[in-house]
Amino acid sequence: MAKLTVRPTVAADIPALLELQRRVYPTIAPWTPEHMLHQIEVFPPGQMVALYGERVVGGASALMVLWDDWADEHTWQQITASGTFDNHNPQGRTLYGAEIFVDPRLRGQRVGHALYEARRTLCRRANLRRIIACGRLPGYAAHAQRMDVEEYVRRVLWGDLHDPVLGFQLKEGFRCCGVTRGYLPQDAASDGHASLIVWINPHFDPERPTRLAQGEHP
Ligand SMILES: CC(C)(COP(=O)(O)OP(=O)(O)OC[C@H]1O[C@@H](n2cnc3c(N)ncnc32)[C@H](O)[C@@H]1OP(=O)(O)O)[C@@H](O)C(=O)NCCC(=O)NCCS
Repeated sequence: MAKLTVRPTVAADIPALLELQRRVYPTIAPWTPEHMLHQIEVFPPGQMVALYGERVVGGASALMVLWDDWADEHTWQQITASGTFDNHNPQGRTLYGAEIFVDPRLRGQRVGHALYEARRTLCRRANLRRIIACGRLPGYAAHAQRMDVEEYVRRVLWGDLHDPVLGFQLKEGFRCCGVTRGYLPQDAASDGHASLIVWINPHFDPERPTRLAQGEHP
């Protein structure tokens, strides 16, 4: 059986990643090839592809930010500079997860886990403080008539409701620390909202600079 691997994305992966993104999000416009190429140029180690053998089965994209610049509020468009990652800041100590997706035919087979583990490894190697992301809440729209999004998230955290994305992220050791309303308005399943989630790097050493700030790519 083919082995699951994760490696940095290269330009040749872009057509397969875009095709997969179109299948994962049939109602949301995919990135353009130019955006993906630019993301690779701006921050190569943050762009990851998962493969079974040679077959592309998932992708994850991230940039670095100074979290204080964005903590009060932000939308997906703002923090990713409309998907270009022009806001990438190597002086930051926060890895910001902009996207993760797995082939719908291979869900539940630990592809998402492998991509998240690769992000955690990058965080440890580069001596970054944490990973932050705004996660989709695709279970919310079905409940939106009965409760606001904050109550929905609380009920997922309490274990009363199931959310396919937040459930995965909690299982992966992320903590939910809030809700970002209007994060991605075109995400109808989440009613445009997102959870704010964080994973703290237990090995972070504030006395040492990040390796990325020194121009290294671990
Ligand atoms: C969210 C997503 C990336 C998860 O990927 P996946 O490959 O199916 O997840 P994995 O199989 O790696 O799951 C890892 C662990 O989380 C668990 N898990 C997955 N979904 C879960 C859920 N909804 N609730 C609880 N646990 C869950 C798995 O059982 C597994 O547990 P294990 O460690 O005991 O084996 C995938 O469903 C996806 O691509 N969704 C659509 C795109 C999307 O919305 N992305 C999020 C953008 S914010």
